[in-house]
Amino acid sequence: MKSSDLSPRIAETSPADAPLELMLLADPSEPKVAAYLPRSRCFAAYSGVLPVAVCIVAPLSEAAYEIMNIAVTPSQQKKGIGTTLLSHVISVFRTEGAWRLEVGTGTFGYQLAFYQRQGFRVTGIDTDFFLTNYPEPIFEDGIQLKDMLRLTLVLRPFPEKG
Ligand SMILES: CC(C)(COP(=O)(O)OP(=O)(O)OC[C@H]1O[C@@H](n2cnc3c(N)ncnc32)[C@H](O)[C@@H]1OP(=O)(O)O)[C@@H](O)C(=O)NCCC(=O)NCCS
Repeated sequence: MKSSDLSPRIAETSPADAPLELMLLADPSEPKVAAYLPRSRCFAAYSGVLPVAVCIVAPLSEAAYEIMNIAVTPSQQKKGIGTTLLSHVISVFRTEGAWRLEVGTGTFGYQLAFYQRQGFRVTGIDTDFFLTNYPEPIFEDGIQLKDMLRLTLVLRPFPEKG
């Protein structure tokens, strides 16, 4: 958190209590959110009792997880809350012994730096992801999202077989 801000309280919450209006900021498809939410873990940052940020993490394969959604309420963005929440989530999964965290992003602007600062590295491009997986075109800063950049944070090395 930046020094001028009060640290929000971060807690894990049931997917049923996850703040949908925040999740729709990062993923405008309600059916897609509804599809991954029940099998995910939900972390939220609160200002008092009000959720101001959310991070949704789904299992991918053995000890690998994907951040499906991370969002901060618009009036509270650029105050360090997203960074604090992402650091918290990384720390939880590292402590629990996860091997890696992945995330996909369609915007290669400030969001890319947001993840790279935490150690995420580019590991792939899912060409046409947003064209084939979303019924409506999605625009961010006037640019249509087309391809998804895949990023990975290795939390600990995958054990060698044999
Ligand atoms: C991405 C997001 C979760 C980051 O959370 P945040 O609390 O705003 O980010 P932080 O304050 O921790 O800032 C991280 C960096 O991103 C920058 N940043 C955040 N929002 C920005 C914006 N709208 N435009 C430009 N830069 C921005 C910050 O300035 C900061 O950089 P700095 O340290 O050089 O100042 C939040 O901006 C958000 O909810 N965006 C809309 C949903 C979204 O895009 N989710 C991610 C989908 S991949």
